[in-house]
Amino acid sequence: MTTVRLNPTDNAVSFDTDALVVGIHTGPDGLRPAPGTDGLDEALGGRLAATLDSVGMKGKPGEVAKVPTFGALTAPLLVVVGLGDAPEGDYDAEVLRRAAGTAIRALAGTGRVALALPAADAEQAGAVAIGGLLGAYSFVKYRTTGERRAPVTELTVLSDAEGAGPAIERASALADSVSLVRDLVNTPPSDLWPARFAEIAEETGSKAGLSVEVLDEKELEEAGYGGIVAVGQGSIRPPRLVRLAYGHPEAAKTIALVGKGITFDSGGLSLKPSAAMDWMKADMGGAASIFGALLAIARLGLKVNVIGYLCLAENMPSGSAQRPSDVFTSFSGKTVEVLDTDAEGRLVLIDGIARAGQDNPDLIVDVATLTGAQIVALGWRTAGVMANDDDLRAEIVEIAGEQGEAVWAMPLPDELRKGLDSPVADIANLHPERFGGMLTAGIFLREFVPDGVRWAHIDMAGPAFNKGEAHGYTPKGGTGAITRTLVGLAERYAG
Ligand code: BES
Ligand code: MN
Ligand code: ZN
Repeated sequence: MTTVRLNPTDNAVSFDTDALVVGIHTGPDGLRPAPGTDGLDEALGGRLAATLDSVGMKGKPGEVAKVPTFGALTAPLLVVVGLGDAPEGDYDAEVLRRAAGTAIRALAGTGRVALALPAADAEQAGAVAIGGLLGAYSFVKYRTTGERRAPVTELTVLSDAEGAGPAIERASALADSVSLVRDLVNTPPSDLWPARFAEIAEETGSKAGLSVEVLDEKELEEAGYGGIVAVGQGSIRPPRLVRLAYGHPEAAKTIALVGKGITFDSGGLSLKPSAAMDWMKADMGGAASIFGALLAIARLGLKVNVIGYLCLAENMPSGSAQRPSDVFTSFSGKTVEVLDTDAEGRLVLIDGIARAGQDNPDLIVDVATLTGAQIVALGWRTAGVMANDDDLRAEIVEIAGEQGEAVWAMPLPDELRKGLDSPVADIANLHPERFGGMLTAGIFLREFVPDGVRWAHIDMAGPAFNKGEAHGYTPKGGTGAITRTLVGLAERYAG
């Protein structure tokens, strides 16, 4: 675990640390040092620009150079990270988060790192802190050989900005939650199944002051959670519904969050091909982000009520699995014909959404790795948000942007509803056309939103799991996507 602290010094040259991180800009006449580099060039005998030039540094985002200081600074190693063009006004927080993450990722194995990146106000200091902390993440639990380097153990953000202390506290709470979400997503499904996830939520959640209730498969069956039961019935590891509640005595608003928690999605009898299956351990990412967000919200003591539902099931083929053409009655009372058992996320979510309605929330937000169509439409890094309320949808796009998460507004075109008509039940779970698949999934969910409740749906099939190389503060594998957006949402609705 990496810790973070604040130091108000403006003397990076003699700061006692194992590595000092500073920023550099691209510029029309070559490299331009960023704020935080005062005195460095002088201490290095005026050779900083020439040295960076000689290693090919241009100052672009993603670039990082390690420069030995040979005693010229107290830190034995200077790490210079590209910040792109110098901004006209304030720094974009995301540029700082990514730069800090890029630098820290290049430093795995280093003990103490000081970040002398631009941090002129609390927001910037917080951005540097969270970028650094998230960049320090590693998942080495299952390695016994090969690279198993300890992450950076201690980060110090150099800033004397007013309010930097609380900003760093917030960054630390968020980073701990995002790291937990990444751990859960990265954990192999052999070690994370519905009951185990529920146990973790119960243990960690109660310690954080949340009230936690877990329904097991018998209770789910008796209470009429037909969707969760149908999806979970093919696995020898039965489903669970976890309800996590955080309350504040001065709260004026209640937010309900519903997460897709498929601990492994084989597709069920509508089996996925192998190449599409090997990363379906990440199909519980929505539930994990909701869990992580609730932990951070509780730690920050936000003045808002937040209730989270983790809809947990393992989607497996077997003699007891649901069949294409089966019909179940969902928690809402509506019947659903299951034409494709691989469209299972929507089946567990509708039970969570209907249950959330009983809490009389001011809004419901569901988060899910719901469709491959999201990746087709928006790519790996941008989630889609759909809603029954234009303002709520716009608000989520804006909040995500502030937190440095890419979320794009998508429509719910009414004409797609007809394709979900079933000849036998109230609705079918599959549209005959695959075009607009992210939107038909949203249309399906909308049918189960209690009347008069504002609702938004975030499809993060791509963003939840990074199949490519690490970049900025994002590692390979579980990313913890949308956790920060949910905390930002709670902050906005807090009194
Ligand atoms: N978990 C998948 C969606 C997914 C795909 C997540 C790729 C992450 C990466 C979901 O349960 C699924 O299988 N969706 C189907 C729906 C289809 C059968 C209507 C899909 O997208 O192919
Ligand atoms: Mn599926
Ligand atoms: Zn799935």
